[in-house]
Amino acid sequence: MAAERGNLKMADLESVGPGTPAGRYLRLFWHPVIRAQDLPVGRAKPIEVLGEKFTIYRGESGTVYMTAFRCAHRGTQLSLGWVEGETIRCRYHGWRFDNDGQCVEQPNEDRPFCDKVKILARPTREYAGLIFAWLGEGEAPPFRNIPDLDRPGVLIADPVEVLPCGYWNRFDNDHGHRAWVHRATAIRHNRPDILVIRHEAVEESEYGWRGTRAVSGKKGETAKTSMGAVEDKEGAHEDFLKMARHKHWIMPNIRLWFQRTRAKGFQGREFWETKCVWTVPINDQKMAAFDVTLTPLEGEDARVYENSRKTQQESEAETRWDLAEKVLAGEMTLEDLPDDMGAYTSFTIEDYVTQVGQGPIAGRGEEMLAVTDARVILTRRLWLREVNKLLAGEALKQWKLPEAPFMPAKPPSAEICGKREPADA
Ligand code: FES
Ligand SMILES: [Fe+2]
Repeated sequence: MAAERGNLKMADLESVGPGTPAGRYLRLFWHPVIRAQDLPVGRAKPIEVLGEKFTIYRGESGTVYMTAFRCAHRGTQLSLGWVEGETIRCRYHGWRFDNDGQCVEQPNEDRPFCDKVKILARPTREYAGLIFAWLGEGEAPPFRNIPDLDRPGVLIADPVEVLPCGYWNRFDNDHGHRAWVHRATAIRHNRPDILVIRHEAVEESEYGWRGTRAVSGKKGETAKTSMGAVEDKEGAHEDFLKMARHKHWIMPNIRLWFQRTRAKGFQGREFWETKCVWTVPINDQKMAAFDVTLTPLEGEDARVYENSRKTQQESEAETRWDLAEKVLAGEMTLEDLPDDMGAYTSFTIEDYVTQVGQGPIAGRGEEMLAVTDARVILTRRLWLREVNKLLAGEALKQWKLPEAPFMPAKPPSAEICGKREPADA
């Protein structure tokens, strides 16, 4: 095996199944496996995470359970069956299993032997609009809340992004891509701030790393953008200095940052969204991004915002990857996406094509990393260091989230962040 102690290479982190170096490290943490709203009461679904298949179902009490993918009897897919109370019954011959995986009924057998039959069960937890599971050995570690998502506001879990590529394609998504990959959306939605080229310095922190973006910021300064140099007539990046200057990587797989809203009818309003994204390998060549947004709105504003965002995004999510595949096939370009498409959706399509466009597993031995890839280099370094220690049986760094939110306690005034956006986009 290439993964010798202390000598891991990036290629050794591509596999995520049980017993692999990255698979072992990832199994030390809780991960989201499905969006809560995608699993109604009484429904069972098949899922795959870290190269393992499971059955996930929501009992009639609303609690979610995760058990083995196949029935212990003759191995059919358990998700085909029926949820009964907090248990699941197999569709093939009616064996029934409780939420611990214990067989509790074998209706066709004159002499049932339920007590001898038990299938795997995994702990789950519902948080921030997502269902999390623990896939490791032994007792699960304490669940980690994200303080920024526990603040008041509207919490939206976006339709899950599933990309046919390895998880490092998403982990390696650097800071500098924004002005280029998302250029078509920036132009369509009149968001020159997205076009600005900003540099980022990164440093290891107690939770992972913290990125600090360098920006221009004073009225009349020249800003370098992916469309050429432009005068920053209104000091449009001043607010960025206050709110979006830092980006956080929470080991092993969470990104957290603040951005101005992209919701229709709300661009130009004086609030900042908190974005938190978990990237979770489904298997070695497929990944899921669980994207949660907290928006500090209340009352009627909150209701209108939630409706406006959800309605469009949910319907656009059904066809977005067809469009992305057409772009990859050369049948259309990102500039051809519909003018009325929401910015959240077009952002996901733009990220899809560049990350899937790197191939199912990017050629990490053949890259030419540059200074602006600092974030990529540090993420890889932290991962290689920790997984090497894991293989060597050494103590791992215990990543700690601060107890207080990352969001600055005093958001900038309306004067600073509210007036420069177009009224709508
Ligand atoms: S295969 Fe499930 S009950 Fe027979
Ligand atoms: Fe992006």
